[in-house]
Amino acid sequence: MLIEFICNGKEISVDVLAEMRALDLIRNELLLTGTKCGCSKGECGSCTILVDGIPECSCLLLAPKLQGKVITTIEGLEGADGELHPIQQAFLEEGAVQCGFCTPGMILSTKALLKKNPAPTVTEIEEGLSGNICRCTGYTKIIKAVQFAALKLKGSEI
Ligand code: FES
Ligand code: FES
Repeated sequence: MLIEFICNGKEISVDVLAEMRALDLIRNELLLTGTKCGCSKGECGSCTILVDGIPECSCLLLAPKLQGKVITTIEGLEGADGELHPIQQAFLEEGAVQCGFCTPGMILSTKALLKKNPAPTVTEIEEGLSGNICRCTGYTKIIKAVQFAALKLKGSEI
């Protein structure tokens, strides 16, 4: 079936099978491989994308459900000149990235969190990122990065 949606600001029109996962469409057809596949069970959050601004596990989402939606993958955060988004910069500056496998999902969940709550407490950050698992960092630096990102983005459109 033909579906149409917006991905990272671009109009996409693509034929998909009814049972295709959004994750496979994004990685294998759109070649946006920043979206990772960890567990395929909705448990790790490495496949997180934003669908109409809400974090969703693309491994659990069927591609036809993207019809008419606006989605963002990690590639969509890149600035006009290729510069990193302030949240990505904050993760780098705080040393919140080790292997990086969880990072795209963490950053997209952070974006959604800060849009809803521009100055979250530590508990609110933990809740906001509760769907994203990191096997490397112990989370302390990720939480600091989210706090730093909140400072960087204070007063700006997220
Ligand atoms: S790959 Fe989707 S939640 Fe783990
Ligand atoms: S940095 Fe390796 S899983 Fe998070």
